Amino acid sequence: MTRATLIRLVAAMLVLTAVISVVLLQFDWNGPAGATEADDVDLLLDVMIVLSSFVYSIVLVMLGYSIWRYRAKPGDESDGEPIHGNTKLEVAWTVIPTVIVLFGAAYSWFILDEIEARQGDRLEVDVTAQQFAWRFEYPEEGVTSTELHVPVDRQVELDLEAIDVIHAFWVPEWRVKKDAVPGQPTSVVATPDREGSYEVICTELCGIGHSTMRAPVIVESQEEFDTWIADQGGKAGGAPTGGGAQGALAAEGRQIFDEQGCTGCHTLEAAGATETIGPNLDEVLPQRAPDEIRNSIIDPDSELSPGFGRGIMPDTFGDALSPEELDTLVRYLSENAGGQK
Ligand code: CUA
Repeated sequence: MTRATLIRLVAAMLVLTAVISVVLLQFDWNGPAGATEADDVDLLLDVMIVLSSFVYSIVLVMLGYSIWRYRAKPGDESDGEPIHGNTKLEVAWTVIPTVIVLFGAAYSWFILDEIEARQGDRLEVDVTAQQFAWRFEYPEEGVTSTELHVPVDRQVELDLEAIDVIHAFWVPEWRVKKDAVPGQPTSVVATPDREGSYEVICTELCGIGHSTMRAPVIVESQEEFDTWIADQGGKAGGAPTGGGAQGALAAEGRQIFDEQGCTGCHTLEAAGATETIGPNLDEVLPQRAPDEIRNSIIDPDSELSPGFGRGIMPDTFGDALSPEELDTLVRYLSENAGGQK
């Protein structure tokens, strides 16, 4: 290969890199942004797109050149020339990819280090993932919820825990993503910088309800957040207004129903639950005695509703619930399933 040919090939690679990069960078791959981490992550993706385009161009140009330059003449049935290596070429194809990969690794490390730095005034939220629901606990504030509320422009640290299988926490607008692994605590931080409603999406295939395993995220002003916390505290701590003992049981039972993620899979009109991954409780529970309901919560596979297979419902609720909570939930279900009474 002459020097002129080499220069032409390199020029072709650079032009192709530019063309592919410009086309690919037109797409808004990550969608709208809603956290301070987003700019860094989006820039990293752009850099990776350009690097990948470069590698792809090298392969494509050399492939095209080789096909054209070393094609067989018509009628030529002879074998190719035996070749025993080319030191210069081998050094080049070892060194260039090594430099590219090391650069990508160092740059990613730099960005990860920056966006994962913990801020002193961050809000801590314990996140529990289970088939197929999310639960959010605010340890400082003493609040538990099925919605994730966070104040805008303040870093939030989400400490993740899974109680059955591997799930993954992802709010696309925040860009960050992290697995929730049973028995191995993980955590992820984000600094939301745009108020609005978003969604936590489970992004690890975790079973039949994976695609519906979502939870609302509300990014709001500090004042609105404080008000929400106060409202939640009022509900969890004090006695519900009106309704007496019956109302208290209903409120407590419904709270357990929500917190345990039952709404993620079942339909129960009294709790505003409409999912269909598990049996419709308004249809299957009215015919059943409290003991049978209790048994189905602890050992779901012992008796299956028609149309539902084994293993759909986790068998972890016997451990997750205290005996009192279980009593409350069973009473709540037996009194409220089948429509409001
Ligand atoms: Cu949880 Cu997918």
